[in-house]
Amino acid sequence: MLIAAMDQETTIPKSSRDAARGTGSAGSAPAGTRRDVQRIVVINGKGGCGKTTVSTNLAVWYAHEGYAPALFDHDPQTSSTRWLQGRPADLPAIHGVSVQERQSLGVTRSWQLRVPPETRRIIDDTPAGLAGLDIADHVQGADIVLIPVLPSSIDIGAGADFIRDLLLKSGIRRDRHGARVGIIANRIKEHTVALQSLERFLQSLRIPVVARLRDTQSYLHAAEQGQGINELRTRSRAVERELRAWRSLVNWLDKESDDPARP
Ligand SMILES: Nc1ncnc2c1ncn2[C@@H]1O[C@H](COP(=O)(O)OP(=O)(O)OP(=O)(O)O)[C@@H](O)[C@H]1O
Ligand SMILES: [Mg+2]
Repeated sequence: MLIAAMDQETTIPKSSRDAARGTGSAGSAPAGTRRDVQRIVVINGKGGCGKTTVSTNLAVWYAHEGYAPALFDHDPQTSSTRWLQGRPADLPAIHGVSVQERQSLGVTRSWQLRVPPETRRIIDDTPAGLAGLDIADHVQGADIVLIPVLPSSIDIGAGADFIRDLLLKSGIRRDRHGARVGIIANRIKEHTVALQSLERFLQSLRIPVVARLRDTQSYLHAAEQGQGINELRTRSRAVERELRAWRSLVNWLDKESDDPARP
C-alpha cells in the first residue's frame, strides 16, 4: 500500500532546507514549492522514552491543522507504522513511510524520501540504540530535532550521553543556521524527586525544554485506537492540560519554521 502510493509523490531531498534553497538533488520539487516543508526528527538513543508517542501525536496534530504530515518510521519494530495501520480511515490522513520495510524491498534511498506534494511537515520516528555516526545520519538535514527524556536517573544519564554525541558528532549547531534542538520532558509526575533531578539536568544544558508531558494513560488509550491525544472523545482535565502542552510545543515548532504561509 505504501509502495503503491509513491507514484504521485514528490522527492524531498535529504535536507528540506536544501529544498527550500533550491539546492536539492535531481528529481526534487522545483525551488519555491517546497519552501514550507519542515522536517522534525524525534530521537534519543534510550528506548521507551516516548519517541513514537511524540511522533504520532505530532503527526495527528498537524493532520488536523491541514499540514498533510508524512510520518517516517525508521524503527525495525515498526511501532508507528502499526499505529498508523490501526488509524480509522475517517480521521485526517497521515502519510506513512516504513523505511525499514522499503529497504527490505530494495527501494532506493531517494524513493524512500518521497512524500505527497501537499506534505508540509515530515516527522521522523527513530529507533532506540542510535549512537555516534548513526545519530548524524538521522539528523542530517533536519530543521528541528526533538529529544524526549524521561525523569529517571538512568534516563537522565543516557540522555546526557546522547545529547553529547548529538552535539559533538552530528554536525548539529546551536546557532541561528543550524537545526533547532528541543527537549521534551516526558512522563513527568509533579512534585517528585525524579522530576527535580530532571529539571536540574535540563537547566544545565543550553537546550530549551519545549514541552513537559505528564504521565497519563490517555496516551496509551489514544495509541490503542490509532489516534492522538487530541482525538480522544473524553476530554478529562488531564487531557485538557496535555493539549495545552501540545499547543505550546506546536507554537514553538511553528516559530522555528520558515513557513511563509500557514494553512
Ligand atoms: N506521557 C506518557 N504518559 C504515559 N505513557 C506514556 C507517555 N509517553 C509514552 N508512554 C508509554 O510509554 C511506552 C513507550 O513509549 P514509546 O513507544 O513512545 O517510546 P519509544 O521511545 O518510541 O520506544 P522505543 O525506543 O522502543 O521505540 C508506551 O507504552 C507509551 O504508551
Ligand atoms: Mg518507538
